[in-house]
Amino acid sequence: MSQDDLKRLAAKAALEYVVEGSIIGVGTGSTVNHFIDQLAGIKHLIDGAVSSSEASTKRMKMHGIPLYDLNASGQLDLYVDGTDESTRYLHLIKGGGGALTREKIVAAASKRFVCIADDSKLVERLGAFPLPIEVIPMARSYVARELVKLGGTPMWREGFTTDNGNLILDIHNLEIMEPVEMEKELNNIAGIVTVGLFAIRPADILILGTQEGIKTIQ
Ligand code: A5P
Repeated sequence: MSQDDLKRLAAKAALEYVVEGSIIGVGTGSTVNHFIDQLAGIKHLIDGAVSSSEASTKRMKMHGIPLYDLNASGQLDLYVDGTDESTRYLHLIKGGGGALTREKIVAAASKRFVCIADDSKLVERLGAFPLPIEVIPMARSYVARELVKLGGTPMWREGFTTDNGNLILDIHNLEIMEPVEMEKELNNIAGIVTVGLFAIRPADILILGTQEGIKTIQ
């Protein structure tokens, strides 16, 4: 099976967690696109969805899935999203697609976070994938200097603007030994809107598509 087939497999398995009549939090990315396409097949069974990005909103609208504003939906039972890296403790690096801020908000507002991925995303230690950070435009250089002090090599994702009108710095060469501590430390730097580390609020369940079938870690 191709990597895309493995993503589709994981996405299909996440449908089992969808509760009838509920509003589903929906993430962003190529794996989530498979989830959205499959969710469309059972859209008559759900109330609707809260989207984490303009891209997912567009895809769900195309499928006729009713969309809710998070302010109107209240707490969600389920959030389904992909990841760029995950440890076996379900600490994640996300934001490769630049949607990390809304993803983190919807994840925080959900009781259960089901993460879907192909098995190449499972790692021993986070950090080989450059850590995305969303920053307020005027703070870009200041934040970059602070990140260098922490041992990272920040690269400005030039030409990219987030759905919130901000910029992304991708931090290379960061050793993430203690994800929760690092997330807290980075959260304290003025000008950072969101850190792509999802460790304070990790995933609850990781569904991996593998050549041998589905592997679930919780
Ligand atoms: C979007 O900003 C990201 O957090 C994605 O969830 C993550 O990059 C996974 O994307 P893929 O499913 O495309 O690998």
